[in-house]
This record gives sequence, structure tokens and C-alpha cells, in this order.
Amino acid sequence: MSMRSAFTALDAIARTRLVHEPTPLVSAPRLAQSLDRGSTTILVKMDAETGFALGGNKVRKLEYELAPDRLVGVTCVITVGGLNSNHARVTAAAAARLGLRCILVLNGELPDEPTGNAMLHLMFGAELRMVAMREHRDPTAVAVTKEIERAGGKALFVPLGASTPVGTLGYVRAAREFVGQLAEAGSAETTWVFVSASSCGTFAGLALGFTLLGRDDIRLVGISPDVTEAEILRLTADLSTAAGALLGWHGELLPRLVSISDAYVGDGYALPSEGSRAATERFGRTEGIILDPVYTAKVAHGMIDWLGGERISDKDRVVFWHTGGYPTVFG
Ligand SMILES: Cc1ncc(COP(=O)(O)O)c(C=O)c1O
Repeated sequence: MSMRSAFTALDAIARTRLVHEPTPLVSAPRLAQSLDRGSTTILVKMDAETGFALGGNKVRKLEYELAPDRLVGVTCVITVGGLNSNHARVTAAAAARLGLRCILVLNGELPDEPTGNAMLHLMFGAELRMVAMREHRDPTAVAVTKEIERAGGKALFVPLGASTPVGTLGYVRAAREFVGQLAEAGSAETTWVFVSASSCGTFAGLALGFTLLGRDDIRLVGISPDVTEAEILRLTADLSTAAGALLGWHGELLPRLVSISDAYVGDGYALPSEGSRAATERFGRTEGIILDPVYTAKVAHGMIDWLGGERISDKDRVVFWHTGGYPTVFG
């Protein structure tokens, strides 16, 4: 199967347009200088600015999850996440835009005066079903689906982070968009791309996209906010295989493409570390770029650490893939 036919297949798959594409690819020379890497090109792929409902990576995945052909007869969209989930916020906004009811099954405790994403879920008119623990989310979503069906409606369940084979296609598409922009930005022997890997739709989609495009000059580095390296490998293999099959592709990812690190988690999910705080300050003060504490700050810490080591030469180019999360800056 050729790359051309995989992308032809991708273009034939329906989606609901939400992303303002292409998102900007901007250079970060003051960040590079501040790291004593003034001769290394550092670029930032601004998927924080996918443009819908405060943006971020979930918008690309939801274009495919909420494609018109998947919504026939649907009255209600259901998804799951933590109280402050970016994915839940964008799902609620997309449901509002599509005129659908939205039920979010969230773990945590809803404060009297919600802030950040929790405030936005309500602003977009989503109904919240709070559960005490992560493990209660999926069974509750099943019960809610049955409730909707008993009342004569039809529910579409979007799994955690929209990291499904269909959602992953959003990042295959993003890989092609980015590679087109890279060509305009000049050439380099090797291009390192640092990105968050959690439920892994983003990481798997980029890995599949770069493979389909034959980009053996790219090294894709997935930085974990909490998931183990083994789990990221498993999720990436499963999602890239299944998303590839949707495009008629049944090959292997490029052998030197993917690296993974769970070394920057610190004390745990959503807990800032010394390194992630310092990275956030550096991005803010050198480039005016906002990082979120949960995902992108940890990626930035990892990227800065790797830039201080031996792996990345001055001839290489480095890309920070910004996946968004702006509302969590405000709680
Ligand atoms: C801002 C942000 N960055 C990165 C991620 C991780 O992306 P993925 O779930 O595709 O691994 C998420 C999702 O949880 C997110 O909200």
C-alpha cells in the first residue's frame, strides 16, 4: 500500500470541521539562546491554537469521532475524564455546536464555584455526572447510555481522550500538515519532535503519519504525564495498527522513529515538579508561550533536558508540539 493511497483513504473519511488548520509552526530563537543552543533551530507547533473552544489536541481527534456519519440519529454525546479534563471541555463545546445533549462522567468533586475546564463544561451546557474514582467512570457511562436508550434517545460514547482508532486519524492528518510546513522551514539532518503521550491518540497518530510519509529523518519523542513507558508502547502499537487498518495500511512503524520517556512525571499526574515549573517560566519569559501544568510543562522539561545532553546535535532541528491545556492554568 502506498503512502498516496493511505492519504487518499484518509481524505475520503468524513469529519466535522472544527480545527482552524493549519495551526502555526513558529520559531523560538530566544528559547534556544536561553539554553545556550543559539545555533539549534527550535520550532513550536501550536496545536494549543486549534481554534475551537480554547483549542488543544482534542479538537483534531473529535473531528473524526463526531463525524456526520457517526452522528446519524444520535441525541446525546457521552464522555469520561477527570473534573478538569481538556477532552471533556472540547467534547461539551462540540456537542453544543452540533445541537446535541452532552453528559460528562467525571471523577473528582465539583466545587461550589468551579474554575478552569470545570467552569467551561457548565458554560457549554454539559450535564455532569460526578463519580468518586476513575474506575467508576466507564461503568457509569454504560449506565447513562442505557438511561438515554430507555428514554428513546441514542447515545454516542467517546472513550477517554478520544484516543480511539478513528480519533487517532486526526493526528495522521496533523502529521501531513506539519510535514508540509517543515518543508517551508528549510532542511535539517534530523528533526526531533517532542510531544505528550498519555492516552496516546496524539502520539500514535503522529507516529503513523510520519511512517506513512516515509520520514526516517524524524525522531518522535513521547513524554509521559503519568503513564509508564510500557503502557505507552502498548497503546501506541495498538492505536497505530488499528488506525492504519482504517486506511488500508498493515505495515510496521519506522524502526528508529519512536522514543518514550516517563522520566519527567515527578511526583505524579498534574503535580508540578521543579523541572516543569522552571520550563514553564522559561517558555513564558523567552517566547510568551503558555504551558499547562499537566502535560506540556512536563514535555518542555524533557525537551530542555535532552537539549542539554549529547543526543541532539547542532545540525538537528527540534520541535515542541504544543498540545494545549490552557484552561488548567487557571485551575
Ligand atoms: C493538553 C493536553 N496535552 C496532551 C494530552 C495527551 O494527549 P493524548 O491523550 O493523545 O496522549 C492531553 C490529553 O489528555 C491534553 O489535554
